[in-house]
Parts: sequence; structure tokens; C-alpha cells
Amino acid sequence: MGDYDKVRPINWQENELLLLDQRLLPQKQEWLCLSTAPAVAQAIKDLVVRGAPAIGITAAWGFVLSLLQHREVEDSEQRKRIAEDLRLLADARPTAVNLVWALGEVGRALQPGRDINTSIETAIAIATDLQAGDVSANYRMGELGAGYIQPNSVVLTHCNAGSLATGGYGTALGVIRKAWSEGLISEVYACETRPWLQGARLTVWELQQDGIPATLITDSAAAWLLAEKSVDWVITGADRVALNGDVANKIGTRSLAALCQLHSTKMMVVAPLSTIDIDAASGLDIPIETRAAAELTHFGDCVINDSIASVWNPVFDITPASWVDVLVTEKVAIELPNADSVAALFAAG
Ligand code: MRU
Repeated sequence: MGDYDKVRPINWQENELLLLDQRLLPQKQEWLCLSTAPAVAQAIKDLVVRGAPAIGITAAWGFVLSLLQHREVEDSEQRKRIAEDLRLLADARPTAVNLVWALGEVGRALQPGRDINTSIETAIAIATDLQAGDVSANYRMGELGAGYIQPNSVVLTHCNAGSLATGGYGTALGVIRKAWSEGLISEVYACETRPWLQGARLTVWELQQDGIPATLITDSAAAWLLAEKSVDWVITGADRVALNGDVANKIGTRSLAALCQLHSTKMMVVAPLSTIDIDAASGLDIPIETRAAAELTHFGDCVINDSIASVWNPVFDITPASWVDVLVTEKVAIELPNADSVAALFAAG
């Protein structure tokens, strides 16, 4: 962890999983200590941990906890309980594809005829590698993405695609960290990100830890910001990228990308290969999570209006590939991504 990398949200310690409780940030920095897979699945559902790569890493550790918890159980019962835990973990959130990807990776620890202790050791090694590999990928994407930022740039980010959303350093915030450290950025703006306020609560706090000042705006101020100031880049992460380059990310990302089309602002999406879903041909194949009405009808514990009859709360949207100027992965940055260039990421060699 360096000067511009001070936050880590996930810690594996002595067969327990410690998660920095993101529901309480920035007012309180409290760690939850989890020792079962159902507790991990619930923590993912409740947004104790959020952000696609962080959800994936957490689920991988949840799988390890399942193996540990059921290690003494008789064979067929053991398989049944592990399968139940896997289902709970896989269903915890629908849009972030890193969740099922990470479970697939760590699931390779279970091999026919392998004893449970060897499986546990292997699963721990895989989960450790996933977590470390995510941080390395973020550093690489930080370099590749920063390569597009000209001196004196103004950037706008949405949601939280930082250390808190990953193993560490972040995707979009990794690019911002790297470009800031090289003196390329003059101002960082952050959308508050209604309704859960990932921008106001998490992104601003996280950047403050590294001494990077961010100016908070309401989501609805973005159009006026782009009209009034010359914003060079909107930089976001992604929860799932389809094979044609369509991007699912936090609700409001599509609005920002549409605004970029109207103003001379470029749109950069920063996402590791684990966020690309090779089974989704386009954004139409990506499930969009909707969350509880209470996120809109309440402000904290306060009821905004108790007579609201109908609420629609989708928490992700799809940005068409044609509105993305650069898709940065750890392998390569793709300008104007499309079905051919995204598929080429997975070609042999
Ligand atoms: O609902 P959240 O907070 O899990 O949504 C997170 C996002 O939309 C992030 O932008 C995305 O997961 C990328 S994180 C590197």
C-alpha cells in the first residue's frame, strides 16, 4: 500500500473474514467479523461490502468459510450443505458478474476424490490470489487509463469504483489516483449517487484518505457541470460488460454517458476482465437489480413521504458501447469498444 492507496475493505484473518462495514462510512469505521457463508451472503445483500470486484472477492472467501464450517460433516451431507451455501452466495446480488466468476474460480478447489483439507488449502490459495490479482489489475488499469489523461484535466466520477469496491486501489479511482499522482488532474468531481450515496459517503471519504480533494455534486447537477465547466473525462467502473462492449454500472452512468455525447467530454469505463461476461452478447442479457422502495421513500431513518404509493428503484443501468470512448482492462485499453475488440480480449495468446 503506497501514498495513494490507504484503504483496504476485505481482510482474511485466522479463518475469519473481516469486512469494513460500508453502511456506516464515513461516520464510523467498524469491521464485521464473519465465519459462515450465509452471513457473508447476507453482508453482500445488505451492502456491508459492495462494488463488483469486492463482491466477488468476498464471495470467494464465503465459499472458503463454507468448506471450513462443513469440514467435519459426512460426505453426502457435506456436498449438500456446500451446494446450499454456494447458491446463497451466488444469489446475493444479480448484476455484478464478478460474483459468479469468483465462485467459479474458487470452486475449482473441489475436485473428485480430493480430501476436504486439501480442498480448503487450495480454496484459500485461490481466494488469496483473486484478492491480490485484483489489486495488481487495478494498478495496471490505473497506468493504462492515466495514459489518456492530459495535463490539467477535470474529471467526474460516479458511485464508488475505488478501493472500497475492489481488493484495493480501485478501477475508476485507480485511474484517478494514478493521474493525480502524476499531476495530470486539476479537479475531481464526484456525483453523490442517489439513493445510497456511494459517491457522497464513500468516494469523497476514500479520496480524502489519500489527500485527493473531490468536489461533490448532486447527480442532477451533472448536466450543468458539463455545460458550465470543461470536464475532460467521465470515469466510471462497471458491474458487468457484455461481449459487444455495453456496460452495466450504477444507475445514472447512462445519463452521464449521454451527456458526454452532448458535450465534448470523453467517457472512460475501467473494468477488469473478471467484469466482462462472455455469456452476455449485449446489455439486453444483463440482469438489472432493483432494490427496496425504502431507499427512496426514506432518508436514513426519516420518512420523506409516507403516502408514496409506487416506487421504481433500479440500481444499475446500461450504457451502450457506442457511447464509451475507452474501455480500460488490465490487458489493454480499447478505444471505441465493440464486439470484435472485446472478444479479442479472450482470444488465445
Ligand atoms: O450497488 P453498488 O455500490 O455495489 O454498485 C457499485 C458500482 O456500480 C460500481 O461502479 C461498480 O461495481 C464498479 S466497482 C469497481
